[in-house]
Amino acid sequence: MRLKDRVAIVTGAGRGIGEATAIKFAREGAKVIVADVNREDVDRTVSVITEGGGEVVGMIVDVTDLGQVEKMVSDTAEHFGSVDIVVNNAGITADAQLIKMEEAQWDRVIDVNLKGVFNVAQAAAKQMKEQQSGVILNASSVVGLYGNFGQTNYAATKWGVIGMTKTWAKELGRFGIRVNAVAPGFIMTPMVEKMPEKVLEMMKGKSPLGVLGQPEDIANAYTFLASDEARYITGTVLSVDGGVVL
Ligand code: NAI
Repeated sequence: MRLKDRVAIVTGAGRGIGEATAIKFAREGAKVIVADVNREDVDRTVSVITEGGGEVVGMIVDVTDLGQVEKMVSDTAEHFGSVDIVVNNAGITADAQLIKMEEAQWDRVIDVNLKGVFNVAQAAAKQMKEQQSGVILNASSVVGLYGNFGQTNYAATKWGVIGMTKTWAKELGRFGIRVNAVAPGFIMTPMVEKMPEKVLEMMKGKSPLGVLGQPEDIANAYTFLASDEARYITGTVLSVDGGVVL
């Protein structure tokens, strides 16, 4: 029980990595807020946690909407008494090569992956400052570190997340708040499953381990970084990518 009685908000927790993280956190004793735009997915994750005996509340929240985000944080603090951990996991892709990318594709990805992370972190940091403790974890990506064909917008946001992570680690450390990022490689979730089979095979081949990652691999990294085992780790980016970049 590495997160016993901690209160954790996981955005985009309806499916994929967020879902696995919310379930893992609950197993580790955390009280979890499952936040997502998709009600069916929220309900499913909430049922899995409830059936496992965990404490959980589902919230329909669009991270691009500051009002909804502030309400999520204040409702959480009111319901559970604190906000100890936030995982900024919600993220989207809208791929196109530079020359073909439309303005709407650029704007939407920036809105969710950058502004959404900013909104949630800002609202949570205000609460955590009052508590004089907290952990903020952000979803970056191997694509943020190294770029990727057809992902100008996504790469910009995932590199931007690293800049925000390091900045917030510097600003918030004095309030007892740690801030870190995780950079997953290619993980089998609905986001990646929509990629062409040929690309997935290529990604598999690039890892010395010869396999793609599973959502639980990232959930495990978030659990470590959220726990007291990581109490002296802040401002870092933990790559969990099966060595695809080697
Ligand atoms: P996914 O597409 O399977 O799940 C993302 C979840 O975020 C969905 O449930 C979706 O409804 C939710 N979401 C989207 N927009 C939202 C918004 N405005 N407000 C609240 N929730 C919203 O994605 P996956 O693969 O689980 O990825 C999770 C995070 O990890 C993302 O930030 C992604 O960029 C990052 N990541 C994923 C990798 C992968 O290989 N799957 C690799 C590197 C990073």
